[in-house]
Amino acid sequence: MQAVDLIRTKRDGGRLSDAEVRWFIDSYTHGRIADEQASAMLMAIVFRGLDPAELSEWTAAMIDSGDRMNLSTVGKPTVDKHSTGGVGDKVSLVACPLVAACGAAVPQLSGRGLGHTGGTLDKLEAISGWQASLTPEQMLSQLHDIGLVICAAGAGLAPADRKLYALRDVTATVESIPLIASSIMSKKIAEGTESLVLNVTFGSGAFMKRLDQAHELAETMVQLGAAHGVRTTAVLSRMDTPLGRSAGNALEITESIEALNGGGPDDLLEITLALAREMLTLAKIDIDPAPVLQNGQALRVWNQMIRAQGGDPDAPIPVASRREIVRAEQSGYITRLDAFAVGVAAWRLGAGRSRKEDPVSPIAGVVCLAKPGDVVEQGQPILELHIDNVDRLSGALEALIDAITIAPEPIETPPLIADILRS
Ligand code: URA
Repeated sequence: MQAVDLIRTKRDGGRLSDAEVRWFIDSYTHGRIADEQASAMLMAIVFRGLDPAELSEWTAAMIDSGDRMNLSTVGKPTVDKHSTGGVGDKVSLVACPLVAACGAAVPQLSGRGLGHTGGTLDKLEAISGWQASLTPEQMLSQLHDIGLVICAAGAGLAPADRKLYALRDVTATVESIPLIASSIMSKKIAEGTESLVLNVTFGSGAFMKRLDQAHELAETMVQLGAAHGVRTTAVLSRMDTPLGRSAGNALEITESIEALNGGGPDDLLEITLALAREMLTLAKIDIDPAPVLQNGQALRVWNQMIRAQGGDPDAPIPVASRREIVRAEQSGYITRLDAFAVGVAAWRLGAGRSRKEDPVSPIAGVVCLAKPGDVVEQGQPILELHIDNVDRLSGALEALIDAITIAPEPIETPPLIADILRS
């Protein structure tokens, strides 16, 4: 086969046979197809798409590019969750220990943040001593003993995605539903979980800006999961406003621990409990997760996971000593607090990275002191910027120039959860 023939087929709107898809993914993973040819294929897919059978084969080839973990020795039903990203999205930190406390095993292989959205591993690394890298043996024994592991995916998991994602990042080919769906699902299926709940976000702070795009992505991923034997549900939720009160690594750990202690903001609890209920349904565990969050059992699993991965759950969470306040320019009702702007501000303060090798600040971030629906007086504090490096402040403030809308009348806020798709 010749890469150029396959690129031409896709460019002209044709379909690739199963053998061609397999050959392409395998050859690129092993360095036998050059980056420029893979880039051309990715761009052709951005414009032409992949039909359901092509996408299923493309995903299967990505899974088979590496190892598929076998979690059968864990001795409990396995269920994971994945979010397509957002600002202040710390749901995994609460939902995963909660579902583990209800009796499931949660093998959460997570990523780091890139751009304005945060990454679960970056957040956990704000805890003194906590380690993201585990061997497959450590992962299996922790899942067996505690029921929860949150760690970095090893190099052997879907290596085709690692190469393709890096290439997509620099060739403007990330924003394609079949490419996003195959990237996410190849990693989750290779991880070996029996079932999976996806939180597909939409709105200014999300990958997908509109509900119809999120719907298409969710449906595509639910079908891919079912086709590969993973029971999959997708919860579609709005990400126009930051979730909870904070965006930033240590800040989000503190807020998650508050939720695990039975507190936490309403929006975080609503989405956490909705996802936990779907995870438990797929795991066939008939337990209401709400009391488990209140009675300290979920917090106990969190503490065990932090300790097992080298962290000290009692160590103080680092805080910024320097803060800057953004105040209400007028009195009235907050009708908009833009998630993207807050995410960019937190990122510019140092909470996120521009290149994957950049370090992140544990303490930098933004706290929302007021949110849409709240009534404020002119001059009242709305945002509190937590500063690690003062040189980064002006860029963050610039991102927030048009982030807040205050109106004389309230507007009705749509529900946080827009839809749930079950396979
Ligand atoms: N996250 C992934 O893992 N892959 C994508 O393509 C997009 C988001």
